[in-house]
Amino acid sequence: MPTQQPKLRIFDDPDELARGAAEEFAERVASKVESGECFTVALSGGSTPKRLYKLLAGEPYLGRVPWQKVHFFWGDERAVPPNHPDSNFGAAYETLLAKISVPPGNIHRIRAELGDPAEAAADYEDELRRFFRLSDGEFPRLDLVFLGMGTDGHTASLFPGSEALAEARRLVVAPWLEKLEAHRVSLTCPVFNNAACTMFLVSGEEKSETLRLVLEGPDEPARYPAQLIRPEAGELVWYLDRSAGRTLRRERG
Ligand code: 6PG
Repeated sequence: MPTQQPKLRIFDDPDELARGAAEEFAERVASKVESGECFTVALSGGSTPKRLYKLLAGEPYLGRVPWQKVHFFWGDERAVPPNHPDSNFGAAYETLLAKISVPPGNIHRIRAELGDPAEAAADYEDELRRFFRLSDGEFPRLDLVFLGMGTDGHTASLFPGSEALAEARRLVVAPWLEKLEAHRVSLTCPVFNNAACTMFLVSGEEKSETLRLVLEGPDEPARYPAQLIRPEAGELVWYLDRSAGRTLRRERG
């Protein structure tokens, strides 16, 4: 089970969930940049975070967040070009990045379209090592990681039974996913678990049973990879809407 009890924040609906997440994002950026440092965030793919990204692209966040101090990374990417409808970068660009004044050098996308997925993973690992000035064996400490969860308990591109789940050395891997008949490029558990804060955004009735098993069921991380996200020295917060959280035994604040 996680080293620390995850915090749960349950909202009435997906719009309220996105509003709560936007508020927490803005507050975390504000407190980090006070010390003159930049803020590093890894965005999630999928449909759930799009509401959040669209909110952040409008007021009050458009004017309130010091976007030039925010560096964007991705938790995972599909093996497609950035302008492909399945691209996680493409989705974030369309809903958020194209609408805020963020310097191009602050956008660190996974170049998953490179012919060889393993090469794309190595390329991103180099980018992370360069930006975070990592020495061998060190993992980047992202200020914030957004993650989603599939109905099968996967998160990022860490799918049930994947060999990527056990990766303990590399920062980025490119697993072949039989279920999707495709490669993905994904950060690894040690990177996710080294973040200062990880926020899962999960909404919808269809995820409630998996969520209950992930949060309150037996420890079966190979079956429910979302259980692998247990930050050693960071916060873990689950942002849920009522439909997703309806079968949980109790709401933890
Ligand atoms: C992706 C994400 C993936 C996503 C979940 C939930 O690349 O799709 O990394 O892990 O977060 O599949 O997706 P939804 O938000 O669309 O339910």
